[in-house]
Amino acid sequence: MTEAILLVGGKGTRLRPLTVNTPKPMVPAAGVPFLTHQLARARAAGVEHIVLATSYLAEVFEPYFGDGSALGLHLEYVTEEEPLGTGGAIRNVASRLRSAPGEPVLIFNGDILTGLDIPALVDTHRRTGADVSLHLTRVADPRAFGLVPTDAAGRVTAFLEKPQTPEEIVTDQINAGAYVFTRSVIDTIPADRPVSVERETFPGLLAEGAHLQGMVDSTYWLDLGTPQAFVRGSADLVLGRAPSPAVPGRRGERLVIEGARVAPDAKLTGGTVVGAGAFVGAGARVEGSTVLDGAVIEAGAVVRDSLIGAGARVGARTVLDGAVIGDGAVVGADNELREGIRIWCDAHIPDGAVRFSAPAA
Ligand code: GDD
Ligand code: MG
Repeated sequence: MTEAILLVGGKGTRLRPLTVNTPKPMVPAAGVPFLTHQLARARAAGVEHIVLATSYLAEVFEPYFGDGSALGLHLEYVTEEEPLGTGGAIRNVASRLRSAPGEPVLIFNGDILTGLDIPALVDTHRRTGADVSLHLTRVADPRAFGLVPTDAAGRVTAFLEKPQTPEEIVTDQINAGAYVFTRSVIDTIPADRPVSVERETFPGLLAEGAHLQGMVDSTYWLDLGTPQAFVRGSADLVLGRAPSPAVPGRRGERLVIEGARVAPDAKLTGGTVVGAGAFVGAGARVEGSTVLDGAVIEAGAVVRDSLIGAGARVGARTVLDGAVIGDGAVVGADNELREGIRIWCDAHIPDGAVRFSAPAA
C-alpha cells in the first residue's frame, strides 16, 4: 500500500502556551498525543511506512513512537536543521521513500482531525491520473486557509494561500491538509532551502500546466491549530463525533485515563478527558474540557471548554470558560477566567485575583 509523509515540524505558535514544552502533534487529545490518532487512521487505511518530517522540538517524537511497531507501522524520522517549510520538509524526506517515480505518496499536515476516506483520495489520484490530488473541505470563513477553486471535473484552477483581500475569496473550498503526490513530483521540489508547498509548489505546478485534482469530502474536519479548536477536537474524539481507532477507552461524555482520580460527586460531561495522575475534586463540574496528566481541579471549580496543562492547578470554586492553563501554572481559588485567556506555563494567579463579573453579594 501507499506510504506517507507526516508534516510535524511547525512551531504551533497559535497554540501557545500548549506548545511551549510540547510540539503540537504531541499535545494529548483524548488521552494520547494527537499524532497517535493520525497514525492510527493512516494504518487503518492500509498505510504501513510513514516518514515524520520534524523540526521544532524534534527530539520528543522518536522516544515516544519508536519504530512504530506498537501501532503496526514502520516509522522513520527526518529532522531539519533549519525549518524548511512544508514543501522543503516534503523534499527533505524524499530519500526515505520507497515508491517508484510513478507511484502515489500520501502527505498529511500534522494537526488535522478528520474522517477523510484516505483510500478514496488515493483512488481519485489514480483514476484522474493527476500529478497531485488534494483533500478539500468547505468552511464558513476560509481566510485562515488555502483556497482551492476547482472546475466542474474537480480539477484545481488556482491555489490562494491565506487570502488578504476580499477579491481573493473566490470559493469556500479549502485545502484540508491531505495530499497524494506522484512520487516524481516530490523530486522536483528544490532541495536544501525553505519552500512552502502552498505558496510556491502548488501555484508553480499550476502555472506549468500540471494536473492538480481536488476531492471535496464533507466528513468531519478540524484544524487543531488554536486552543479552542484543540479542545473541541479532543472532546469530539471522546464523544465519538470524530473518528479514531486510537481513543483509549469507550466513547461517551467522559474519558478518565487510568491513574486519574475523580471525586464521586464531580460531574464530567461533554467529552471531557482527565489524564493520568490528574485529580478532580468534590463537586467540581468539568464540561467539554481537556485535563492533562497530573493536573488538579479543586473542589467546586467549574471548567468549560478549557484546557488544563500538565501539572497545572485550578483552585476551589474557580470558573474557567474557554481558558488555557499552561503546564504547571497555578490558578488560585475564586477566580473567573474566560474567553480565550491564556495563562502561561508555571504562572501563579493568586486567590480571588481575576473576575469578569461582579462578585455575588
Ligand atoms: N517539517 C516541517 N517543517 N513541518 C512544518 C514546517 C516546517 O518548516 N512548517 C509547518 N509544518 C507543518 C506543521 O507542523 C503542520 O503540521 C503543517 O506543516 C501545516 O502547518 P500549519 O502551520 O498548521 O499551517 P496552517 O494551518 O496555517 O495552514 C495549512 O493547513 C491548512 C489546513 O489546516 C495550509 O496547508 C493551508 O493551505 C490549509 O488550508
Ligand atoms: Mg494548521
